Amino acid sequence: MSEIKRVGVLGCGLMGSGIAQVAAAAGYETLVRDVAQPILDRAKAGIGQSLAKFVEKGKLQPVDREAALKRLNFTTTTADLKPCDIVIEAVTEDLEVKNALWKELDARCGPGTIFASNTSSLTIAAMAAATRRPDRFVGLHFFNPVPLMQLVEVVKTVTTSGETFSRAYAFAKSLGKEPVAAKDNSGFIVNLLLVPYLLDAIRALEHGVASVPDIDKAMQLGCGYPMGPLTLLDFVGLDTTYRIAEIMFAEYKDQKYAPPPLLKRMVLAGMSGKKSGKGFYDYSVNPPAVSSLGL
Ligand code: 3HC
Repeated sequence: MSEIKRVGVLGCGLMGSGIAQVAAAAGYETLVRDVAQPILDRAKAGIGQSLAKFVEKGKLQPVDREAALKRLNFTTTTADLKPCDIVIEAVTEDLEVKNALWKELDARCGPGTIFASNTSSLTIAAMAAATRRPDRFVGLHFFNPVPLMQLVEVVKTVTTSGETFSRAYAFAKSLGKEPVAAKDNSGFIVNLLLVPYLLDAIRALEHGVASVPDIDKAMQLGCGYPMGPLTLLDFVGLDTTYRIAEIMFAEYKDQKYAPPPLLKRMVLAGMSGKKSGKGFYDYSVNPPAVSSLGL
């Protein structure tokens, strides 16, 4: 069993850059690939800021921040990931896009490279089957914000070998995370339970049960959640949640995963949440105001 030394990360949006950050901070040589230089530059700056925040809080020494940043490299060329011992994919939640990348990498990486997807809702089996290494394919599902959230779901599909699963599990632990084992069902553990809850919060708003801040306040103070569901939706991204809900609805044909009309309207209007500046709340003002949704 060869040791994991070099980590490849495909995609450097919110999740990919968080994964790259924790890998580099844990001592791995980390190479991040995305389609364009400005995207990589933005991710690099974001990682630098996040590590600086840990230094500011006394959770990281300045010298360790510098060392982590030195271990991080960026590329727009997929082929550069060839020498990686594990490649973690965190690109858009679209099977065709993911599988085009996996096929390209499968042809380039050696037989020892483990492939891991950070998919939220697609089945690992559908990606593993597109490669010639279905036994070395696993799910590694991180949570947003990756540098702060403890959990990683380690997902074994029908073809994943015991050795691949054990290595992926140990790798998640080596990042300072708490892994849990999950089967390859759409949504694994967390999204299977979280997505209906988030969609129900939107349905409650649609039905006039309460206002945006009161729905959030109720779940924060009534259940001790760190964020209310509508704030969490803004945080995760409404576009991302919509896509996840569509995939889970297609998989289970169960109404609880059906995206509510309001979510679709907001996504169509470009209200993707915090990253777009507007979702259930308007982030162009400080503190954020409640958005006018015409309800
Ligand atoms: N890097 C470094 N520091 C960060 C950071 C990051 N990426 N993000 C936030 N911080 C810092 C903040 O700046 C803040 O610093 P400060 O105290 O100096 O202001 C500190 O962390 C704490 O943040 P907050 O003040 O916002 O306080 P919280 O105690 O609320 O912690 C939180 C933030 C951990 C995000 C917490 O609100 C939380 O746990 N929220 C729920 C998140 C959640 O449920 N995530 C899962 C989403 S589902 C998912 O990802 C699955 C996917 O498939 C959809």
